[in-house]
Amino acid sequence: MSQKKRIAIIPGDGIGPEGVAQAVNVIRASGADVELTYFDWSANRYLADGVTVPPDGFAMLERDFDAILLGAFGDPRVASNIHAKEILLGMRFRMDLYANVRPVHLLDASLCPLKGVEPRDIDFVVVRENTEGVYVDAGGVFKQGTPDEIAVQEDINTRKGVERVIRYAFEYCERHKKQDGSPRKRVLMCDKSNAMTYAGGLWQRVFKEVSREYPQITPQHMYVDALCTQMVREPRQFDVIVTNNMFGDIITDLAAGLQGGLGMAASGNIHPGKTSMFEPVHGSAPPLAGKNVANPLGTILTAAMLLAHLGLTPEADKIEAAVLEAVRQKKTTPDIGGSLGTQEAGQWVAKTVTG
Ligand code: IPM
Ligand code: MN
Repeated sequence: MSQKKRIAIIPGDGIGPEGVAQAVNVIRASGADVELTYFDWSANRYLADGVTVPPDGFAMLERDFDAILLGAFGDPRVASNIHAKEILLGMRFRMDLYANVRPVHLLDASLCPLKGVEPRDIDFVVVRENTEGVYVDAGGVFKQGTPDEIAVQEDINTRKGVERVIRYAFEYCERHKKQDGSPRKRVLMCDKSNAMTYAGGLWQRVFKEVSREYPQITPQHMYVDALCTQMVREPRQFDVIVTNNMFGDIITDLAAGLQGGLGMAASGNIHPGKTSMFEPVHGSAPPLAGKNVANPLGTILTAAMLLAHLGLTPEADKIEAAVLEAVRQKKTTPDIGGSLGTQEAGQWVAKTVTG
């Protein structure tokens, strides 16, 4: 017997709502048994009544929903970006969504700026720690505005936080296959322990310990700077990468470049067993908003991730197959070689999903 999954939809700012509208059409086309509830948390709402997240907002999401689909946040009218911080980072931190899972999969050779690279060559996943690091915003400024100004931005790494995200990466490696059906085999921890010895030391020790629990998985290590070079020279070598919040942020933009740009990248902010949140990696792109030009595929692939997370695997598979077909036939927006608008590209996928 099926049980309707409850999904909260928060379209946000800029191109966020445009991508989300297409993703919602595609979810409906897939026949997934879901109930969707919209929330207007955004720059518009903040400018109207000063509310970023209503009181009890995070508890309500956790209590009343199985998953959350987010668009994007950021609006030039809110220079401080306070609403984006409180909604997006608020959700990650307050709902304790500690694993930011960002799959990097090349759908078609034409999307990759590298020479001679095939889809099978780029199929890895970055597991980014999502609740700690420099993102915690611990620190402060002293003597601001004087020549003696001091700014401190602490990098917070807890034993618990590091251990759980590393363990998540090993579990992910064990449970997920590559797109070609072969098993995943390697977890690579990426840090900067040659310079940041305290935080790096903790990550190194915990990684060694946890990796012993998974003897069938090969543990690997790379410094984050070296990893950036390797990612563009030899992306085939990567399988599962686990890293801290900041490095994960940076390397997933680089990785998005390998799979067709930010318009193609999906992500899930996950705490196993809790209400998790799914968002495209791209931002709100204010200059593109309202022009029907933004690529909706990142949000559509994100919706597929969400459905798979909820156990709606056949629906998720159908959506991924339709996106692949859209890319192959160039029924896409211009950024990845097609000539369709956002809505037309989304409709093409929805129609293909319907069959
Ligand atoms: C991302 C974004 C966010 C981040 C910003 C908007 C705070 O770049 O999801 O990657 O840095 O995490
Ligand atoms: Mn980012």
